[in-house]
Amino acid sequence: MNLKEEAAREAVKFVEDGMVVGLGSGSTASVAIKLLGEKVRGGMGIVGIPTSRDSEILGRSVGIKIGELKDHPEVDVTIDGADEVDPKLNLIKGLGGALVREKIVAVATKLDIIVVDESKLVEYLCQKVPLPVEIVRFSREATMRRLKGLGSEPKLRMRDGEEFVTDNGNLIADCRFPRIDDPARMESELNLVPGVVDNGLFVGLAHKVIVASEKGVRTIDRKK
Ligand code: A5P
Repeated sequence: MNLKEEAAREAVKFVEDGMVVGLGSGSTASVAIKLLGEKVRGGMGIVGIPTSRDSEILGRSVGIKIGELKDHPEVDVTIDGADEVDPKLNLIKGLGGALVREKIVAVATKLDIIVVDESKLVEYLCQKVPLPVEIVRFSREATMRRLKGLGSEPKLRMRDGEEFVTDNGNLIADCRFPRIDDPARMESELNLVPGVVDNGLFVGLAHKVIVASEKGVRTIDRKK
């Protein structure tokens, strides 16, 4: 079993019959979705709330009934990945480009479980990866200038030579900050910039982080 599967397998243990389950995005969350599909085929009834078009397609393909947040405003458990996890369980997410819907679902979730391998654990946020910020196309030059003014080096995300477009029809500025020591403040400051839809800082949202390493799987619970 690889590390992603080990973490995902531990996470799906928290899913019970009848639950509304947030379906995360990215390669680790995809493993969890496939494992949930196995449970559904074994007779478990759940409704999946996808955090991206990709997780919706995958969820349907493995037999999970897909629902919408408007009909299920309270999500019992969400299983999602992350790009960085700091010691307080604050996260950077969005390297897969799904941060806006991921945050909406995380905020609606009673038990938000993040599954990672230990390479994602960092001492401070932006230690290894840039912070993804979703921006509207209309104001991208002005918005990127303001993001630079907040101390970052923003770069428009490209894919196959084209601008990367999110499921919401927006663009992503990957913002390299030297480090982020106050993620709550930075999250608010970024979201006050006109043209910013949301950013990949997830502060105080993860309840459990399941970390897989060569030594085994461990669960870190958020301190109350
Ligand atoms: C998607 O937008 C991201 O937030 C993912 O959750 C994140 O990139 C983790 O992906 P992996 O599990 O593929 O590393």
